Amino acid sequence: MANQDKVTAVSLRERKRGGEKIVAVTAYDVTFARLADRAGVDVVLVGDSLGMVIQGHANTLPVTLDEMVYHGRNVARGVAHAHVVVDMPFLSYQASIEDGIRAAGRLVKEGGAESVKVEGGEEVAELVARLVAIGIPVMGHVGMTPQSVHKFGGFKLQGRGEAQARAIVAGARALAEAGAYSVVLESIPAALATEISATVDVPTIGIGAGPRCDGQVLVMHDLLGLDPDWSPRFARRYAELGQAAHKAFVAYAADVRASRFPSKKESFT
Ligand code: KIV
Repeated sequence: MANQDKVTAVSLRERKRGGEKIVAVTAYDVTFARLADRAGVDVVLVGDSLGMVIQGHANTLPVTLDEMVYHGRNVARGVAHAHVVVDMPFLSYQASIEDGIRAAGRLVKEGGAESVKVEGGEEVAELVARLVAIGIPVMGHVGMTPQSVHKFGGFKLQGRGEAQARAIVAGARALAEAGAYSVVLESIPAALATEISATVDVPTIGIGAGPRCDGQVLVMHDLLGLDPDWSPRFARRYAELGQAAHKAFVAYAADVRASRFPSKKESFT
């Protein structure tokens, strides 16, 4: 039976007309995906940010297609309502259109993806059009695209200068014209994000792009405060789960060492 409430690429695209904000968050496993889904988020993004927050790399570049398939599959099992988007990892689509089609196909066939996300503007527009033509919805991603971290010289705000700003606007337009159903705007000035949101006819989803985007996305670890020592300026911590987990581990260790755990109630007769 089809789930009537299921969020789809089509229903997300239509949000642009109604003006209802899109709520997106990353997740990388079934437990957190289920929690986000049950809380009513619209989009669960299996981001290649997993290279940093799950695998501990300095950037997203080492993440493989097999790893995205693995995490996508696990996330999809926890989601009933939200739309599941899976990131195309670095070098799975940059070398050729055929590579990109095969990679996206694997994410859909094996990785639980209902749509895929690609980074880049005009340079990926042809791929976006081909994917959409064969039935795979695409979310675009412009601005500070983490797979280009070395080109940018770090995770730095993009689009401050006029030339850069125009290239980002052109990229977002090219993605929308190629058939992308939404575009992520990452780490760009709020005024530029406002301009793009007013000119492209698909929803923009901001991260570090100010309040005037059609939706917002955050990395789960930032939102939940999982890392007590790190929080990007644009993120808001809605919980302090890192601190809570630390306290719980300390209490557990103390109880085991003092023979307070397990108790009689926690043992079998
Ligand atoms: O990989 C990711 O988590 C992302 C978001 C930051 C948009 O691309």
